[in-house]
Amino acid sequence: MPRTADTLARDEQHWQGIARQFDLEPGPINLENGYFGRMTRTVAEEYQHNIHWVNRSNSVLVRQRFEQLDALQIRGQLAALLGVPDNAVALTRCASDALQSLIRNYNRLQPGDQVLVSDLEYDTVKSAMRWLARQRGVEVIEIVHPHPASFDSLVGAYTNAFQRYPRLRLMPLTYVTHRSGLVMPVQAIAAAAREHGVDIILDGAHALGQIDFDLTELGIAFAGFNLHKWIGAPLSLGFLYIHPERLQDIAPDMGEFHFPSDDVRARTPYSTPNIPALMTLPRVFEEHRAMGGAATKGARLNYLRHTWSEALRELPGVEIMTPQDPRLCCAISALRFTGHSDQQALVNRLLQDYNLFTVVRNGAGFGPCIRITPGLATPLEHMQRLIQAVTELARH
Ligand SMILES: Cc1ncc(COP(=O)(O)O)c(C=O)c1O
Repeated sequence: MPRTADTLARDEQHWQGIARQFDLEPGPINLENGYFGRMTRTVAEEYQHNIHWVNRSNSVLVRQRFEQLDALQIRGQLAALLGVPDNAVALTRCASDALQSLIRNYNRLQPGDQVLVSDLEYDTVKSAMRWLARQRGVEVIEIVHPHPASFDSLVGAYTNAFQRYPRLRLMPLTYVTHRSGLVMPVQAIAAAAREHGVDIILDGAHALGQIDFDLTELGIAFAGFNLHKWIGAPLSLGFLYIHPERLQDIAPDMGEFHFPSDDVRARTPYSTPNIPALMTLPRVFEEHRAMGGAATKGARLNYLRHTWSEALRELPGVEIMTPQDPRLCCAISALRFTGHSDQQALVNRLLQDYNLFTVVRNGAGFGPCIRITPGLATPLEHMQRLIQAVTELARH
């Protein structure tokens, strides 16, 4: 009988086998896998092979083969992974590029309109929204989410804002927030936004590859992603998504002319991409699927996160920043030592005394926290080491 993703998540032997597919540098235990993901050994080898191939063949074969054929097939595979039509996606260098393109080219704002940002958005996205507002004579409404958050408080923060500010037209929404790993109730928020005529640009940087989602079901028309966090692609790849029926609401990027104006690829800056990295994507998708896709990877990562966060949730002197509601949780979570004003000092102790590598994240309304992100090569034992380390540090 096939095992469910949740049963498989607890099978250490299975995940030891997966971990052996990655080459790991000796050194601190990496609990900061949220920055970018490791490629498997086979993906890294194929990437190297492609670097050599492109370097040898240079523009002749790239122009003859890659541009005419491979690039289109790769885009088709990406669209298939998301379950969307090919003409809804355009490749970019990263999620920031995709999100900035969507924000700067969104063409439905009129002077006097309002746009909304929350404290939990990525800083680049916040600054792009503030820039957009200045350019278009639009007011930025900034909200701070209540902490601790719940499903209802998150949806309520938006419905309150929609009622209070009737001129709101656009907002970014971060699917998985990067400071504490809180997973936003995207579908419920998108439904409320639609009722009030507010468009959403979804920041899916941390969602793709660890959350199994369907953009149409979520009700999302505009989104930006990268492929170098939870999908396992080489660095420097991302893409934007525009629902084909909403293409006219995003203008071609700064007069972009290499593609016709009804082509989604005109919504990104034209440039020479990282061709060897792009050529590696079919292998990346194959391995992602072989591991069980987002459902299986997400279940494992969630299990690791759940193990440490629930063991420490009631510990005096420690606050777990994400709620217990499984709808709001993923691989990433964060903690705070409540008796200490300097969380960086605790990050230093985790590294020096316990060999655990973590980072402080600032900028959310709830203040600084220490982000903990296991990866696909993380064994359960590393979570136990974290639990022991935090328990000992909280005593002093
Ligand atoms: C929530 C969020 N949005 C956007 C980004 C930007 O992604 P990229 O580095 O691919 O531009 C990140 C990167 O960490 C992120 O965490």
